[in-house]
Amino acid sequence: GLPSFVKIVEVGPRDGLQNEKMFVPTETKVEFINKLSDAGLSVIEVTSFVSPKWVPQMADNAEVLKLIKRRDGVTYAALTPNLKGLKDAISCGVNEVAIFGAASETFSKKNINCSISESLQRFEEVVKLAKEIKLPVRGYVSCVLGCPYEKIVSPEKVAQVAKQMFEMGCYEISLGDTIGVGTPGAMKQLIAVVTKHVPIEKVAVHCHDTYGQALANILAALQMGVSVVDSSTAGLGGCPYAKGASGNVATEDVLYMLDGLGINTGVDLQKTVEAGRFISQALGRSTHSKVGQAMKSS
Ligand code: HMG
Ligand code: MG
Repeated sequence: GLPSFVKIVEVGPRDGLQNEKMFVPTETKVEFINKLSDAGLSVIEVTSFVSPKWVPQMADNAEVLKLIKRRDGVTYAALTPNLKGLKDAISCGVNEVAIFGAASETFSKKNINCSISESLQRFEEVVKLAKEIKLPVRGYVSCVLGCPYEKIVSPEKVAQVAKQMFEMGCYEISLGDTIGVGTPGAMKQLIAVVTKHVPIEKVAVHCHDTYGQALANILAALQMGVSVVDSSTAGLGGCPYAKGASGNVATEDVLYMLDGLGINTGVDLQKTVEAGRFISQALGRSTHSKVGQAMKSS
């Protein structure tokens, strides 16, 4: 059966904004994050501690973390690809960090400039230091249902990377359909293989909506017992190293579906729609969330 509670991991301020061409003012990012926490989102990925040459949009990471209004009980998380990123993130008082690897060699090279095995060695150091100070680490695997460069990615390869991240100490493994090519049958098959190595309660899904399959894939994952879903308010997003990938599934759309299924999230849909409206206006475009559009006109 379906879970009774789903944890939403809001990735809008990071995955959503990282690909924006124009620099989004820090105050806008901060106000967006504050609105998301006011809406009841309890895990918010706020920024990345990556090279500003690679992803200029996240260059204000320290400033963002300094200026947000921190709500009790909210986890403010950031991406940290290496020890430098981790140390900088720690000095900014993040509550959680994430390492991000891939199940495709070419994508790994393009995204973080090293092979999968080199990345796992780096992550090992990151997790070791984080553990010493009891900072939780999440692990992402990208390209789990397809790669922009290699096309086909096998579930076994994904499971191998997921297993290694889990065994090194990640408390949760997020399976990223980075380019949004997956369909529900493939998602179910993937989860069946991954959960031979990682317990289902430690698995999250991270769907992009490029081919309009994200909600269907999420529902398939919930039916397999997954209860953690990554999403991005207003459907913002895309990965700079995955050309053509559209935004993440919109948080509003996920919330609407879960509400309809009677699944609790602790998140206020109306307030999330308002946060989506705020960031869309700031970016000068209309929301990519279907629910956001519908609730706007009603
Ligand atoms: P590199 O060039 O191989 O790094 O990049 P390096 O160690 O050789 O260092 C080169 C320079 O970068 C040095 O500076 C370092 O100090 C600096 P220089 O001496 O030239 O002035 N540097 C850093 N600066 C700031 N923060 C750091 C850092 N590390 C080194 N942490 C690196 C390797 C990983 C840094 C680079 O490739 C990078 O930043 N990649 C990030 C790419 C990225 O953020 N991609 C998007 C996120 S992943 C994603 O979106 C997918 C996901 O959503 C899941 C899904 O959708 O499937 C998670
Ligand atoms: Mg993503």
